[in-house]
Amino acid sequence: MPLSVPLEDNPLWFKDAVIYELHVKAFCDSNEDGYGDISGLIEKLDYVQDLGIDCLWLLPFYPSPLRDDGYDISDYRDIHRAYGTREEFQRLVREAHDRGIRIMTELVINHTSDQHPWFQTARRAPAGSPERNYYVWSDSDQKYAGTRIIFTDSEKSNWTWDPLAGAFYWHRFFHHQPDLNYDNPAVLEEMIATMYYWLDMGVDAMRLDAIPYLVEREGTNCENLPETHAIIKALRKALDHRYRNRVFLAEANQWPNDVREYFGDGDECHMAYHFPVMPRIFMAVHMEDRAPITDIMERTPAIPETCQWAIFLRNHDELTLEMVTDAERDYMYRSYAPDPIMRINVGIRRRLAPLLGNDRRRIDLLNNLLFSLPGTPIIYYGDEIGMGDNVHLSDRNGVRTPMQWSSGPCAGFSKAPASRLYAPVIDDPVYGYQAVNVESQLKDPSSLLNRMKAVIRVRRSYKVFGRGTMTFLYPANRKVLAYVRKLGDTSVLVVSNLSGDRQSAELDLPDYEGHKPVDILGAKQFPCVESKPYAVTLEPYAFFWLLLRSPRDRDAADQALREAD
Ligand code: BGC
Repeated sequence: MPLSVPLEDNPLWFKDAVIYELHVKAFCDSNEDGYGDISGLIEKLDYVQDLGIDCLWLLPFYPSPLRDDGYDISDYRDIHRAYGTREEFQRLVREAHDRGIRIMTELVINHTSDQHPWFQTARRAPAGSPERNYYVWSDSDQKYAGTRIIFTDSEKSNWTWDPLAGAFYWHRFFHHQPDLNYDNPAVLEEMIATMYYWLDMGVDAMRLDAIPYLVEREGTNCENLPETHAIIKALRKALDHRYRNRVFLAEANQWPNDVREYFGDGDECHMAYHFPVMPRIFMAVHMEDRAPITDIMERTPAIPETCQWAIFLRNHDELTLEMVTDAERDYMYRSYAPDPIMRINVGIRRRLAPLLGNDRRRIDLLNNLLFSLPGTPIIYYGDEIGMGDNVHLSDRNGVRTPMQWSSGPCAGFSKAPASRLYAPVIDDPVYGYQAVNVESQLKDPSSLLNRMKAVIRVRRSYKVFGRGTMTFLYPANRKVLAYVRKLGDTSVLVVSNLSGDRQSAELDLPDYEGHKPVDILGAKQFPCVESKPYAVTLEPYAFFWLLLRSPRDRDAADQALREAD
């Protein structure tokens, strides 16, 4: 029986949440066909609950030719046969909600598959007709020439010639994914109807995929245009008109000032990924210097009270290097993708553990940043056990292999013969399922999985992590990253050693004189803060989360203890 936890009636639930991203296909196969499915995921909800997750983000599970792993949708209002049925999806939502877990799905609004009936109708419809105008057409492939190509490894142009239509169609991603035309009001109406369809089934949040590219205008780079923001505002209005406590997460891989605009005045998206901080976390650890992190966070504008950043280390895509300078990109490639096979488009197709050389201290350190920097953390499935990748699989499939549940056949993911799995399980000596799996880590008190659970538990008991302010301290030793998270009377000092050697630092904490730091992740004793700088020493890659307890709090706690005796 699951531990029943009612969902809180709280419009800001997402601020305190921990999100877990997964592909239904990759999680658990219940019907032995080699593909994970919704029923399999339902079987694993207790695992997700036990990990401490508040919201599951499900990658696209709609009918699709699967040439872009489901982001190429051919029917917005159904479920791919391999993954299950609408009834099973409704049961998933119910069962997740019973465990206090919300569900986030994908609203892929920028493009469809070329197999979508809208496109098939459009290409046959007369030029200029409403049906044709569901997509963006041109007689010339020179229009919007100022627009960059995103999938640089596979596409040479954002236009593809359609012989049936006798015209070029516009696509920001693969050529088999034509972009929808938001200058046609019917497209927005369809999208709103799609959104209502899933929200009516109880979906709590929607990730708005690839939203900077909704509208094109000559003479611009066709990204983040005011007309695009108008579309997002209209979607948000339609959301708020019918529902409470539902949330949009913006996928806008842009610089912080541009992403800021997707929050609007609190009338666009509730959340947006902080793309630029992610590669800089990896850079800071490799350089053993906090500057990449402090610089980008200082360049991050304030956001409305009702909004939130979403922070992640890895996801289902390449570790994108679009939001870094050329020099930083070179550095990242040299440091983290020395073999060209590890690179794709403008990024690196590797998972967290292999990126960090499977060094447990560095994995813990990066997770510490994920859980303590401002924003809502998102864990990519499998990274909580340190799964590896398979760079020999095509596209980004090497980071999308089956979840490793046990050392049994097919990693406990499926009872199908290994040859029928949608992708081979990771099987190398270091990251293979025999060595890295949930079952064995659950039994080992010091495993990565148990450590993750413990850190998530601590994070969930302090609202300061999701809602508090952040103030950097700048000790002379730049290998030490230190910040205070503060919400009301609660202050937590987070100190991290970004280097592989022991480090000392002196922290200026004038506002906390007389406070007693209490280690909320461990049991280490710390002296009181005095008028002089606070001295800390950290082992290689170590970090502390120190609750700064005021003398008044301490007296009250001592008094409570005496009374309890
Ligand atoms: C998704 C990718 C996908 C792309 C185009 C992105 O935002 O995260 O996985 O390939 O959209 O559909």
